[in-house]
Amino acid sequence: MLVRLLLLSSVLLSCISNGSGGVTSGFVRNEFPSVDIPLDNEVFAVPKGYNAPQQVHITQGDYDGKAVIITWVTADEPGSNKVSYGLSEGKYEYTAEGTVHNYTFYNYTSGYIHQCLIDGLQYSTKYYYEIGDGDSSRTFWFQTPPPIDPDSPYKFGIIGDLGQTYNSLSTIEHCMQSGAEAILFVGDLSYADRYEYHDVGVRWDSWGRFNERSSAYHPWMWSAGNHEIEYFPYMGEVTPFRNYLQRYPTPYLASESSSPLWYAVRRASAHIIVLSSYSPFVKYTPQWEWLQQELKRVDREKTPWLIVLVHSPLYNSNDAHFMEGESMRVVFESWFCNYKVDVVFAGHVHAYERSYRISNTRYNVSSGPAYPVPDKSAPVYITIGDGGNQEGLALRFRDPQPDYSAFREASYGHATLDIKNRTHAFYHWNRNDDGKRTPTDEFVLHNQYWGMNRRRRKLKKNHLNSVLSNLPLSLIF
Ligand SMILES: *[C@@H]1O[C@H](CO)[C@@H](O)[C@H](O)[C@H]1NC(C)=O
Ligand SMILES: *[C@@H]1O[C@H](CO)[C@@H](O)[C@H](O)[C@H]1NC(C)=O
Ligand SMILES: *[C@@H]1O[C@H](CO)[C@@H](O)[C@H](O)[C@H]1NC(C)=O
Ligand SMILES: *[C@@H]1O[C@H](CO)[C@@H](O)[C@H](O)[C@H]1NC(C)=O
Ligand SMILES: [Fe+2]
Repeated sequence: MLVRLLLLSSVLLSCISNGSGGVTSGFVRNEFPSVDIPLDNEVFAVPKGYNAPQQVHITQGDYDGKAVIITWVTADEPGSNKVSYGLSEGKYEYTAEGTVHNYTFYNYTSGYIHQCLIDGLQYSTKYYYEIGDGDSSRTFWFQTPPPIDPDSPYKFGIIGDLGQTYNSLSTIEHCMQSGAEAILFVGDLSYADRYEYHDVGVRWDSWGRFNERSSAYHPWMWSAGNHEIEYFPYMGEVTPFRNYLQRYPTPYLASESSSPLWYAVRRASAHIIVLSSYSPFVKYTPQWEWLQQELKRVDREKTPWLIVLVHSPLYNSNDAHFMEGESMRVVFESWFCNYKVDVVFAGHVHAYERSYRISNTRYNVSSGPAYPVPDKSAPVYITIGDGGNQEGLALRFRDPQPDYSAFREASYGHATLDIKNRTHAFYHWNRNDDGKRTPTDEFVLHNQYWGMNRRRRKLKKNHLNSVLSNLPLSLIF
């Protein structure tokens, strides 16, 4: 009894609820100091062998998940651009030829960056691939998603603002343990922009080697954050996103986008839209025009789950970056509601927060007031900039907790979205807790399109019909 009482009071103490909003968890888990892992640590080890491929990562290579873009770096000479791949390890029936390039950034010269598209893959299949020459060659694998189908199950991992600290390492390892098949990454990759001169490129390289443990096997869907901008007039480097764009290709042409910074892919039962907080998005800009068209292409009968990734959150009740997403909210929020987006994932704020379904679209400059109201058509907004970078946690939440905020906690972690079928997905946020992965915030996400009563009834009827048509005739008559 005493034990139960103690347990209860400690739970109550760690969940201080303020205002009429949701829960502010008093739990703060700053597991390791927020410093980058030293370059000579084994997590950044250069693979053995002359010119061995390093910094290997994969991403989806087409609109529907039958292609993969493989990227790797060789340090000593260009070497081969070839990828050998097939269904069993060491026996490769196919090859593909990629491209190679290098670039300079101030007085840093990159290694040879190879990019190779392999397409025409089978769905739901494990492929092995080999890159590099002779004794220095390396082998990896990946699993293609199930076909585009409204009931294709799929488990996504969601990570943001990762960096290269010991906390970042916990986050990647926990995400791998949670069985995520592909990663939705909400921006701010390496934090190399915290360095100067030659070291900027060096820390992009170390991050590439660091993240290979996951990204060589599981496709990461990239989106760009403010740390990718790297506007450095003092070094004469003023072209935004240069290191990022040289290293992290996206399949933007497949969704008829004009920029790798915003694009869409379809995977299993999900349609994933990636936006750029730091590229023009107001009316008539390319990103605005593109999103308008892409939302029309979404077919909820084929891909019921509509997910948006963006770096700067549209709803955030932390002092850090408060209201920075306001300008994009004003432009895109009504579309998100009209098209019944299921969930918007953002990063930027180094803490975790989940909203209720709310919207704030009634304001215009000649009338007010404007505040968020409950709205069944609105997405759930999730801020997950808690990957664990060297800037540390955003500890100060605004008080009282606003009505729109359902749960918030300043700890590091990652999330998983486990899509079961067209109506149900299970969502978990997992905090990094003393080296353990601890499920902390969870809910069942009901699909915004198939959850509607009319469609639910239609679904039930069809289900009944298919059950009946599969029954032996003798049972029906
Ligand atoms: C790229 O590599 C080639 C061959 O090693 C070298 O000659 C060239 O200067 C490099 N380019 C840049 C931009 O550094
Ligand atoms: C790069 O430039 C910085 C600043 O000018 C200098 O301190 C550094 O030694 C240079 N490094 C290399 C490898 O050239
Ligand atoms: C501005 O808001 C008012 C009150 O909601 C509404 O009647 C009016 O039509 C709006 N004007 C425009 C241009 O949206
Ligand atoms: C969808 O998945 C949920 C959760 O597993 C389950 O309860 C539900 O019956 C499933 N719906 C259909 C139509 O299979
Ligand atoms: Fe950021």
